[in-house]
Amino acid sequence: MTSLNAGQQQAVDHMDGPCCVIAGAGSGKTRVLTYRIARLIEKGVPAESILACTFTRKAAGEMAERLEPLIGREADLLNLGTIHSMCYRILREEWRNTGEEYELLNEYWQKRFVKDILAPPGPKNPDGLNWDLDVSAALGFISHQKNELITPEMFRKKINPEIMDAYRYARLYELYEARKEQERKLDFDDMLIRCYYLLSENPAILAKYQQRYKYILVDEFQDTNKAQWEIIRMLAEPENNLFVVGDDWQSIYGWRGARPEYIVSFQDWYPDAEVIVLDTNYRCNKHIIDLSNSVIRHNTDQFPKVVQAHRPAGKEPIRMNASDEEHEAEMVIQEIQTLMKNGMEPRDFAILYRTNAQSRAFEDRLVKENIPYVIIGSAGFYGRKEVKDIIAYLRTVYDPDGNEEAIKRILNVPTRFLGRVFIQQVEMHAIQNGTSFWKSLREIHAKPFQKERVNEFIQIIEFLRGQNTTPEHLIQLIREATEYDDWLKREEGDSEGEGNTRIENLNELQSAASRYSNLKDFLDFVEMMESRTAQPDEDRNAVQLMTIHRSKGLEFPVVFLAGMANGLLPHKNSVQYMDGIIIPESCAEERRLCYVGMTRAKDLLYLSYPETYQGKTMEPSIFFEEMDKPALCG
Ligand SMILES: Nc1ncnc2c1ncn2[C@@H]1O[C@H](COP(=O)(O)OP(=O)(O)OP(=O)(O)O)[C@@H](O)[C@H]1O
Ligand SMILES: [Mg+2]
Repeated sequence: MTSLNAGQQQAVDHMDGPCCVIAGAGSGKTRVLTYRIARLIEKGVPAESILACTFTRKAAGEMAERLEPLIGREADLLNLGTIHSMCYRILREEWRNTGEEYELLNEYWQKRFVKDILAPPGPKNPDGLNWDLDVSAALGFISHQKNELITPEMFRKKINPEIMDAYRYARLYELYEARKEQERKLDFDDMLIRCYYLLSENPAILAKYQQRYKYILVDEFQDTNKAQWEIIRMLAEPENNLFVVGDDWQSIYGWRGARPEYIVSFQDWYPDAEVIVLDTNYRCNKHIIDLSNSVIRHNTDQFPKVVQAHRPAGKEPIRMNASDEEHEAEMVIQEIQTLMKNGMEPRDFAILYRTNAQSRAFEDRLVKENIPYVIIGSAGFYGRKEVKDIIAYLRTVYDPDGNEEAIKRILNVPTRFLGRVFIQQVEMHAIQNGTSFWKSLREIHAKPFQKERVNEFIQIIEFLRGQNTTPEHLIQLIREATEYDDWLKREEGDSEGEGNTRIENLNELQSAASRYSNLKDFLDFVEMMESRTAQPDEDRNAVQLMTIHRSKGLEFPVVFLAGMANGLLPHKNSVQYMDGIIIPESCAEERRLCYVGMTRAKDLLYLSYPETYQGKTMEPSIFFEEMDKPALCG
């Protein structure tokens, strides 16, 4: 095997016992892990007894691709996947023996369960807590306990009786678990917690899997949480052929319980572990390394390591100052077009941002300029539920007689107790009388409470139709008149994780609409976007758009790190302010995100700053100030 430096070679050659590779971005950690699998097989270890854990399914797919040329067909026999998928496999195998059966609970049902529990008590819901807690906060709390391996009983034992809500949280957790068990359902975190208890309480079962997985390898180890760590540790015994690679500078899942200290103090757990520190980055040009190092250096309490560049200086990173997010997208796409004229392909480019709502301006531009793109890990902007709801309102307002599908979408949004059966009645009426759905809605003989709700709906639409105003303002009015935001928060919870909120998408929709003075033009534009953006195939030769979180472990020739403004990166919900100014010490995880984003770039890195975003004035990111040398202004 070629192309490994001395440290990498040492890691690849490590055979038995625990070993930890800790190193900065692009230093070949994933490469070492892949090569080590090949080396183990070469030494006679059967592929089936190797367990390799990656952070995402996409990463597992890429690792399988990299392994194929090294080990050929053996790759199919490897156990390769996320820790969740490994746990689920174990659970299913054991359930086959016991005859147990569980079904995975999707997010919609998870939210339903929690909403019922938080609702006031009633005949069908005697245990209702009557508690005005955000659904996503409730689910976040439950998930956090599970990733810390805290069961409802354990939580109840440790709560502080002085804290009023502690009992409610305990009850919430108990009810949620009971309800789930009753319906034989499992949520995402259960895959871990169930597996943990299965293995820790059944020595014979544990021994079986310890026999099976003789060599365990874990990538992106800095983002391992407690539950995952305990499972891995158990499985690795007694030989402890455990090989982990990671970078505490890139730990970005603290909000989901990630414990970078596991990698930093690996030797506390395994005093005989070999610890290998790599120091050379092979990915990025020297300018990119220097600039990203100068940012991450502002974090204290980090494992001290060097990241030096293997590659020559190359092109300097470029800072782009834009007047707003439209202009930012315009500048980015123009640069892409120029580089494509010089022979680059769409797939060479990645546009990274902190929150999903930021994809909108880039999507609009890419479609306008006819450049193929994919969004990794999220629907396209105009395919997101809340955006589709508001667009359906706009269509109804524009032409209620011609937009039956739109009306059907929003008649019960927010909830008006006008469900599917009612909609069918209206449809029947329309067909029998040869009239439109909208007119039938007015004419239909409904139960009094339904009639009342229908009239409310009609009044809102008529009120909106009577407004002679801009599309942007109309969206504002829809949100207010229907109290859509409150409903959405109740339905979905306020937070989508990673700082994403659905409300941000609505604000972004208003920004998009602000470019149009009349509703028809805006709706025509949306229709064009809808017809062009359904591109689910992630393997196409296309510009890749994703959040920084999603970009972990990946690399691209050209990276645009967008929205380098205080409030976006660092994100306002993840840092602390004093007198309106960000406290730099509170930015550690956001700084790591910035580092992850910057170090995805091989040859060219652009950092763009919009002076205004969604109509608000933005300051340049604090991370610009921290850079040794300002990026070159482009
Ligand atoms: N010794 C080497 N010689 C040449 N290229 C190398 C060498 N080591 C790694 N590379 C290349 O450098 C790039 C980064 O490697 P890799 O993705 O394994 O780094 P990493 O440490 O896992 O990065 P990250 O921290 O972002 O996950 C890859 O393109 C890889 O092929
Ligand atoms: Mg990697």
